Amino acid sequence: MDTLRVALIGFMGCGKSTVGPVLARRLGYAFVDLDSDIQTVSGRTIQEIFKEDGESAFRALESERLSQYACASDIVVAPGGGVVIAEANRSILRRQFHVVYLRAKASTLADRLRSEAEHRPLLAGYPLEERIARLMSERSALYDEVASQIVDVDGKSPHAIAEEIAGGLEPA
Ligand code: S3P
Repeated sequence: MDTLRVALIGFMGCGKSTVGPVLARRLGYAFVDLDSDIQTVSGRTIQEIFKEDGESAFRALESERLSQYACASDIVVAPGGGVVIAEANRSILRRQFHVVYLRAKASTLADRLRSEAEHRPLLAGYPLEERIARLMSERSALYDEVASQIVDVDGKSPHAIAEEIAGGLEPA
């Protein structure tokens, strides 16, 4: 198998951070959660970065950290759901990664995000279902555009999703 880098993309709540470590173990790769990485490097939480410096500062950090992993080997990276907004990020993803879009129904996302929406800078203060629909309408074509593989995740366990991804990486 010559895939050295896998990126898991998809909307907040699609399971990137839970599937990622399972997939990484399955492949014998390292796992990087890009939001955790940004927090470690900046010494601040994602919420603090949004609050103190705004979304564009967060996006700049996100792009910088993504590019750090563009040449790493044997790695599964899970960036935040908004990574596809910037064309430069999409270009890195397309060129450097096997990109797996974890596609979830809006109702699944809403169920998973309801209890934590107030802690997420892009969801806090909005009616949840409307906000998800709005952001998905802006992003779903971008997820499709960069995806090498699309996996529908509704009702599936992290293990089953990881196996499906691994099956798509390995020659039949
Ligand atoms: C964001 C998703 C979050 C985080 C930030 C912005 C987005 O990551 O990067 O709050 O724009 O969708 P997760 O998708 O890992 O929750």
